[in-house]
Amino acid sequence: MGIFSFLTQELAIDLGTANTIIIHNDKIVVDEPSIVAIENATGKIIAIGHAAMQMHGKTHENIKTIRPLRDGVIADFNAAEQMIRGMIKMINPSNRFFSPSLRMVVCIPSGSTEVEIRAVRDSSEHAGGRDVYMIYEPMAAALGIGIDVTAPEGNMVVDIGGGTTEIAVIALGGIVCNESIRIAGDGFTADIQAYMRHQHNIKIGERTAEDIKINVGSAMPDIDNPPPDYNVRGPNLMTAMPIEVPISYQEIAHCLDKSLSKVESAILAVLEQTPPELYADIVSKGIYLAGGGALLRGLAKRLTDKISIPFLIAEDPLHAVARGTGIALKNVDKFSFLMR
Ligand SMILES: Nc1ncnc2c1ncn2[C@@H]1O[C@H](COP(=O)(O)OP(=O)(O)OP(=O)(O)O)[C@@H](O)[C@H]1O
Ligand SMILES: [Mg+2]
Repeated sequence: MGIFSFLTQELAIDLGTANTIIIHNDKIVVDEPSIVAIENATGKIIAIGHAAMQMHGKTHENIKTIRPLRDGVIADFNAAEQMIRGMIKMINPSNRFFSPSLRMVVCIPSGSTEVEIRAVRDSSEHAGGRDVYMIYEPMAAALGIGIDVTAPEGNMVVDIGGGTTEIAVIALGGIVCNESIRIAGDGFTADIQAYMRHQHNIKIGERTAEDIKINVGSAMPDIDNPPPDYNVRGPNLMTAMPIEVPISYQEIAHCLDKSLSKVESAILAVLEQTPPELYADIVSKGIYLAGGGALLRGLAKRLTDKISIPFLIAEDPLHAVARGTGIALKNVDKFSFLMR
């Protein structure tokens, strides 16, 4: 890395509730779960990202794991700042990366309050950002999907992340109408934990529930290529003795139904607010799905059936927002929708 590229370091950051992704020189250089492990006595960070995730749910009184973001926004300011700082260091551990002109584009949920936006800006600045821009997540998702966001055409994006589902109609470089609900991947995981407790009397942690979601998660009780049942082990709530239960995707479809209905209602609410000309564009092009939630089996089909507009899963949906934030970084002078 030459001295000049060092002086003009540029980073695009998708600071997500579940995953943080950093793009530098058009490449994904960090892709880690948004979690840190802290030593209680000293407050020192002992692990970040994957290493901290390994410890999640397995800690003792001297160590705690913290997910600094909840529901799409920073819930623990100090932990968030340390996490961003630590992840930036991962890019190039040999230099301290305190470039005097670190330019950053960071994305924020479209429903963020002033205070929440301030928290992201402050954390980014404390982590070394001198020139910080912000972009709304659905706008970043649209850019990452490859949509020409400045065209006089309507496009609708639904980004189902860990903390929030962001729904937005974009045209002429702006968000025309949007909805941000705090029901997304984390909520689905919590639904699964509650279901296992009530239905099977088995106590499971967040990581196990997440594994169930990935292995047999489904949005419909009848899908093509159904996955085999997934065996879940854990303590019986009554006896504390170990039990093992096979879980089918149909059960999970049933358990996620309520949350998915809320996502559908939110999408319909945005369609209701959409001006007719843009609505027509959306019906002919379809609605784009991004975020990790887009990978839920049968989701695109369920939404297409329910709403009667085709839903299209973005290519590599987990990285769409990060890719778009990277595109924004290269166009900071051109895109007037970036916020300083
Ligand atoms: N195959 C899959 N099936 C269902 N859910 C999945 C799958 N893969 C990942 N997820 C879920 O996607 C979520 C993470 O998605 P993503 O990385 O887009 O969220 P995020 O950007 O960190 O969160 P947010 O945008 O809300 O702040 C997690 O809840 C994860 O469990
Ligand atoms: Mg996201």
